[in-house]
Amino acid sequence: KKTVAVIVAAGKGERAGGDVPKQFRTVAGRSLIGHCVDRFRAHPGIDDVVVAIAEGQENALARAVGPAPLPRSVIGGASRRESVANALCALETDGDVGAVLIHDAARPFLPETVIDDLLAGLGAYEGAIPALPVVDTLARGYDTLGETVSREGLWRVQTPQAFRCDAILSAHRAWPADREATDDAQMLRAMGGSVAIVKGDTMLEKLTHPADFALAEARFGGPSM
Ligand code: CTP
Ligand code: MG
Repeated sequence: KKTVAVIVAAGKGERAGGDVPKQFRTVAGRSLIGHCVDRFRAHPGIDDVVVAIAEGQENALARAVGPAPLPRSVIGGASRRESVANALCALETDGDVGAVLIHDAARPFLPETVIDDLLAGLGAYEGAIPALPVVDTLARGYDTLGETVSREGLWRVQTPQAFRCDAILSAHRAWPADREATDDAQMLRAMGGSVAIVKGDTMLEKLTHPADFALAEARFGGPSM
């Protein structure tokens, strides 16, 4: 059975601002979505790439990924969760997908080693996610400082997140329609699925705010000498 990468790129990128949704903007010589497609295609463990885009964005996707061949696309939904669900439904119809890696287009710098680790993690678990330990002091508080919260056992969760395709499909179906979710692993956990934590990477930091683009350009866009 196939291992397929699903890239969610149907968001509006409201926090990032700009003339076009952030997944179509260029950093380090290529659009964010183009970087993601390239990196999955370059990995020998990934058989196919599917991109969820908003309705009417087919031309934007073609411009952003070209001149490489266009990946298959599906129409996303009003929330990230719905965009993922639409892509998973398309894969279910295909019938030959064993594993799926679900990834934010807003995380363009995807190291090969993270994909390796995720695929290895899937061997014994229904899911595997990259995560980094929390380094800052954590505290609760509103206008004034409340109590400090221990960092122990707390993680910053990234994407791609790898799953057995049937397990994550069931998790999406079981999730209440009116409840939001910021990632997919929490849905699998909610129905008792097992999710391995593998080493995340600071390269996978999500581009969310305007300043993230300048920082990413400075870090990844310079001459490679
Ligand atoms: N996403 C999606 N469909 C949605 C909402 C988000 O496919 N309805 C995707 C985004 O395109 C992005 C990823 O989910 O690649 C992570 O979401 P986020 O960083 O929040 O992106 P946006 O929702 O586009 O940005 P914002 O929340 O600032 O509007
Ligand atoms: Mg969002």
